[in-house]
Amino acid sequence: MDLFEQLEQVRTEALDNLVTIDSQVDLVTWEKRYFGRKGLVTQQLRSIGSLPQEERKTFGQRLNDIKQELSTAYEAHAQQVKLAEIEAELASGAVDVTLPGRAVAAGHLHLTTQTLRQIYGIFAKMGFEVYEAPDVELEKLNFDMLNIPAYHPARDMWDTFWVDEQRLLRTHTSPGQVRVMRERYPEPIRVILPGKCYRYEQITARSEHQFYQVEGLAVGRNITMTDLIGTLTQFTRMFYGASRTTRVRSSYFPFTEPSIEVDTDCILCGGKGCPVCKYTGWLEIGGAGMTHPVVLQNGGYDPDEWSGFAFGLGVERPAMMKYGVEDIRLFYRNDLRFLRQF
Ligand code: PHE
Repeated sequence: MDLFEQLEQVRTEALDNLVTIDSQVDLVTWEKRYFGRKGLVTQQLRSIGSLPQEERKTFGQRLNDIKQELSTAYEAHAQQVKLAEIEAELASGAVDVTLPGRAVAAGHLHLTTQTLRQIYGIFAKMGFEVYEAPDVELEKLNFDMLNIPAYHPARDMWDTFWVDEQRLLRTHTSPGQVRVMRERYPEPIRVILPGKCYRYEQITARSEHQFYQVEGLAVGRNITMTDLIGTLTQFTRMFYGASRTTRVRSSYFPFTEPSIEVDTDCILCGGKGCPVCKYTGWLEIGGAGMTHPVVLQNGGYDPDEWSGFAFGLGVERPAMMKYGVEDIRLFYRNDLRFLRQF
């Protein structure tokens, strides 16, 4: 029998064998027998060398066709075997439909987003709606309209990323106050303005050059400091726990008069003093005050008729205290080992 006849024989034998196979194991054996390193088809390729030159091409072509034919037949048959096995499994009742399904891997909200939503929820209960103002802000709104003229030393309180001569990345959410007032006049206002702020600062475990704030603004006919302190005390209790107390210190902001700073008794030591509160017993939660008459005016509200309060709360710092996060930089690192803990 010459090499051509042998080749045809391998083909017929392989096809005949294949159709009798009914298990995965036998499929593997079949593949090895014909296509393995020492398989029968593989050997045919080696025998080309012993053919006279003029027959090699024809032989090679036929061999290729056969290889193609066999592997197509193999794929088709393997598919059938697999289906038959699944059917057999189903028929034998081996599928346990009461087993729990495979969980789909799903992400979850970032700790900052979770915290923001908690804050929205608390203020929503007190009648505040969410108002969004842009991150890239006019210098005029970030400073001038908030009673901070160019020469004013208070500008030094905020180191600034400039975009061009007139625009900057807002250093606080307060410019949104003027935007809301101009849009809502002459309605009374009760909004919170959440968003990212940017300051040209050294990055450390306690300060980032980007961070979130939630601004609050209420404008009405008879709004007093009592309303402000009541609102922030209520917020503190709902955010940190019902037993929290707050204290108010006098402070200075150009856009509020009078201005205060609000603290809560340290959630970790309860006021006794610990490293988190730097042994003061108090944690700062934000700046606030009664809307400055000039700012009311810039927003279109007559300060003789209207009054208002404003506050600015941090977001990452309270989350750090509440969840025991020691480094603010973790909020911006996208490290799943951190993110998955919340
Ligand atoms: N904008 C102030 C800051 O970023 C906080 C603040 C907001 C103070 C509103 C008073 C009223 O420091």
